[in-house]
Amino acid sequence: MCGIAGVVGQGNVVDTLVRSIRTLEYRGYDSCGIAVLQNGALAVKKGVGTVEEVSQAERFSDLDAATGIAHTRWATHGAVSAENAHPFTSCDGRIAVVHNGIIANWTELRARLEAHGHKFRSQTDTEVVPHLIEEQLKLGAADFETAFWQSLNLIDGAYSFAVVTSLEPGRVFVAKHKNPIIIGLGESANYIGSDFNAFIDKTKRAVVFDDDEYGVITKDDFWVKSRLTREVVCKDVTTVQWDAEMAKKGGYPHYMLKEIHEQPHAIRMALGVDARGMAQVVEMLRAAKRIYLVGTGTTYYVALVGQYLFKDHARRFVSAVAADEFTLLAEVDAETVVLAVSQSGETYDTMQAIRCAKAAGAKTAAVVNVMGSSLAREVNVALLQMSGPEISVISTKAALAQMVALYRIAADLARADGTARGDAADVAAAFAALPDLVQQVLNEKSGFLNTLAKHTCGWKDWLFLGRGVYYPIALECALKMKEVAYRHAEGMPAGFLKHGTLSLIDDDICSLIFVPPKRDEALHKMVLANIEQIRAREGHVVGFVYDADESLASLLDERVLLPDVHPSIAPFLELLCGQMFAYFTAVALKRPIDRPRSLAKSVTVP
Ligand code: G6P
Repeated sequence: MCGIAGVVGQGNVVDTLVRSIRTLEYRGYDSCGIAVLQNGALAVKKGVGTVEEVSQAERFSDLDAATGIAHTRWATHGAVSAENAHPFTSCDGRIAVVHNGIIANWTELRARLEAHGHKFRSQTDTEVVPHLIEEQLKLGAADFETAFWQSLNLIDGAYSFAVVTSLEPGRVFVAKHKNPIIIGLGESANYIGSDFNAFIDKTKRAVVFDDDEYGVITKDDFWVKSRLTREVVCKDVTTVQWDAEMAKKGGYPHYMLKEIHEQPHAIRMALGVDARGMAQVVEMLRAAKRIYLVGTGTTYYVALVGQYLFKDHARRFVSAVAADEFTLLAEVDAETVVLAVSQSGETYDTMQAIRCAKAAGAKTAAVVNVMGSSLAREVNVALLQMSGPEISVISTKAALAQMVALYRIAADLARADGTARGDAADVAAAFAALPDLVQQVLNEKSGFLNTLAKHTCGWKDWLFLGRGVYYPIALECALKMKEVAYRHAEGMPAGFLKHGTLSLIDDDICSLIFVPPKRDEALHKMVLANIEQIRAREGHVVGFVYDADESLASLLDERVLLPDVHPSIAPFLELLCGQMFAYFTAVALKRPIDRPRSLAKSVTVP
C-alpha cells in the first residue's frame, strides 16, 4: 500500500517527483525512492524514512532528468529496508518499476525467473516485475510495450504500476488492476499519480484508469489500452474540483487540526449532497429487503452511527457490518442493498465487500469523498460528500460529514416511506444549525480541551463509554486516541461495563463518558446509572456533558460543558470534542500527529 508518482516533462522534474510523493505520504511513509532517466541511463536512489529524510540523505537533488517515477511505501511484503524500497530494477538496470498492491503469484514467478538466471536483491513481491519484463524481451517480445503487456498477463493479484526504461526514453508506462492510477494532463508535461493530490499543483485535468487498462504518457500525449483486447480505449478527461490550496496546511500546525476546523464546511457540503444521487439511493433502499452499511476503521464506526440514525429517523433496522468481515457474515441477494462508506474510496476490504455484493446480484451505493476513486466507480450510485482533501491519516472531517450524509439519507427515506418523525422539521433545522454550533464549540472549547488533555495525558488506559448512538461515537473517539496518541482506549457500551469490564476500574484507568443532553431523558438516566457504578469503585471519570446538567457535577472529576442543543445533533458535538481531545493529548505527548507510526490512510491490501 503505497503512493506512486511519475512525470514526463521538460527540464528537471526531480523536484516535482519529490513533491508528488510527499503529498502521497498519507498512503505510506516508511521508505521511498526515485528512478529517473538521466543521460540515456536509469539512475535510482532510495532509502528508509520519510520523503524529506530520504530525499536529503540520498541527495535526490543531485539528479537532473525530464522523465522519472517515484514511490512512497507502506511495507506489506518484506521488512522496511533500503533494499525493499521501490523502485526495483531489472538485472541489466534498464527497467525500473514502482508498484502499489500485492502480486499474489510472486513466489512462483520469482522461482521461475531465478531458474532463468535473474538475480533478486529484495524480499518484495514487486521485484519480479522488472525481471519479468526483461525476460519477455529476452524471449523475443516485439517491443517494450509488448513485453510489458505480456508481463501483466502473467501477474495475478492487485496492482498499479509505473515503469520507466532506458529502452523507451521520454515515456512512463502504467497499468492498473484493483489499485488506483491516474494521469494528469499538463502543459508540455504529463503526470502519473495514485490520486489527484500527486499533481494537483500542476493540473486539474485528469484521466482515471479502470481495471485491466494500461497505457503510456509522454511529454505531450498519452494513450490507454485494454489489457484484455489490446485495443485503444477512449478515455474521458475529468476536471478535478479540489485545488492545491485546499491540500495545504494553511497556517495550522497539523493537517488533523486544520481538518477538524474544516468541519463546519464539510457538514454544509454533506447536507447539500447531490439531490439526484440521493433520490436514486432512496429509491434503491425502498426497494430493498435487506440493507447493509459497510466500512472499515473509522468508516465502520460511521456505519454503526448510521445504524442508529436509520432507526431514529427512518424507523428502519439496517445492519452495519465491518467490511473486512462482510464476506464471512452477510447474506446477500438481488434484494439486498449495500451502502458503503469510505473517505478514500480505495480501501481493499470495502472494495471486496462491494464486489462480493455485486457478484451476488445486490445493488450498491456509497458515500465517498474522493471523486474518481475505485469505489465511486464500482457502485451503482456514488454520493460524493465533497469534504475536500483529507490529508491527515487520522480521519476527522470526512467521518463527521459521512454521518451527516447518512442522516440525510435516513431522513429522505423516511419522507418517501411516509414514516418521518413528528418533529422531523425541528430535526432538520437542528442539522442546518450544526455547522455554526461546531464552529462555536471549536471557538469556545479548544482551549479548555487542550488544558484538559495536558492534565490527563498521563493516563495510559482509558474506557470510552456511551449508550445509544453515543456508543459508536465513543468507539470512534477511542480509535482517534489509539491512532494519534498511542494511548490504549477501549470503546464500549456503558451498559456493557457491568458485565465484566467493571473489574478493571482502579487508579490506573480513566473513564471518558459521552453523556447525552438531559432532554434525552431515558438515555441520560441510563448513563447516569453507569457513571454511579464507576464512582462506587472510586474510578476516575471525565465527562462530555451539556450545560445546566448539574446532576453530574459531583459525579465527574472533570467536565467538558457543551451548549444545550437538540438531542439529534448532540452526538456530533461530542465526536468533535473526542477528536480534539485525542489531538491535544497527542500534542501533549509529542506524537507525530498526521503520520502515526505503522498506519496509512488508504489501506489497499487485505
Ligand atoms: C485505514 C485508515 C483508517 C480509515 C480506514 C478506512 O484503516 O487507517 O483511518 O478509517 O482505512 O478508510 P476509508 O478511506 O475507506 O474511509
